[in-house]
Amino acid sequence: MAYNLLKGKKGIIFGALNEQSIAWKIAEKCYEEGAQIVLTNAPIALRMGEINKLAETCGNAPVIPADVTSNDDLKNLLTKSIEHFGGQVDFILHSVGMSMNMRKNNHYTALNYDFTHKTFDISAMSFHRVLQLAYQMDAISEWGSVVALTYIAAQRVFPDYNEMADAKALLESVARSFGYQYAKKNKVRINTVSQSPTRTTAGSGVKGFEGFISFAEKMSPLGNATAEDCANYCVTLFSDLTKMVTMQNLFHDGGFSFTGVTAEVIEQMEK
Ligand code: NAI
Repeated sequence: MAYNLLKGKKGIIFGALNEQSIAWKIAEKCYEEGAQIVLTNAPIALRMGEINKLAETCGNAPVIPADVTSNDDLKNLLTKSIEHFGGQVDFILHSVGMSMNMRKNNHYTALNYDFTHKTFDISAMSFHRVLQLAYQMDAISEWGSVVALTYIAAQRVFPDYNEMADAKALLESVARSFGYQYAKKNKVRINTVSQSPTRTTAGSGVKGFEGFISFAEKMSPLGNATAEDCANYCVTLFSDLTKMVTMQNLFHDGGFSFTGVTAEVIEQMEK
């Protein structure tokens, strides 16, 4: 059921790769709630062409390529989006992550630092880059809302999350630091949503992901939050109903983050 929570709002969605992507579900939900959107992803990801299906179901949304490590690409994205909307954007979703060390199975104690730079650039510094350009170009409207997706490995150790844990810690820090600056300038809100493990292309790249996801399911009183649940939550954060929420890392994980142990896990241990 739609509530028209985003009626008249305009947003940019980064990171919809395929139907499993969390950004895919968020794009669909934003459109359903009345928003107009622009979709973007890295040029190489767009070549697979799947995003055009999503664009069609979201009112023929424009698809604008942008590698998040390129200032020129991001400037072009913001300029074209403003042109398309005929004005500033009201919300931005950053749903981007990539780790070369994970892809190459490099252990956390044997990182290749060229890859690590790339990981931080794509997964964390890109958030600052998007915000800084938007700030300088005055691309986001007053009371606008920006959300980036993160994971609890930023606070607690999940050994196989590898260098992405450090990238997420930086990402969350950028949300706080830039949240202050942008609130002062233009009342723009910036938050991160810390999502349950979710079966997606990026998620499945984590070693032992299936064990990980079922452990999280057992450790969460409400169970794991799905990508659809995440989409609903992000809609509220883009809406005017959460105007005073900024600089927060918001756990969206069925209670996982504050659970010490559950009956299901104890039962498993007693077997
Ligand atoms: P996904 O693989 O569908 O999305 C990752 C996206 O990043 C892809 O669309 C990819 O093309 C994009 N990307 C990679 N390099 C890029 C670049 N240089 N420029 C522009 N875009 C680039 O996977 P998922 O899971 O939907 O990931 C979205 C976000 O959610 C990521 O930040 C991820 O860390 C986060 N997250 C995922 C969880 C999971 O278990 N799947 C749990 C918590 C957070």
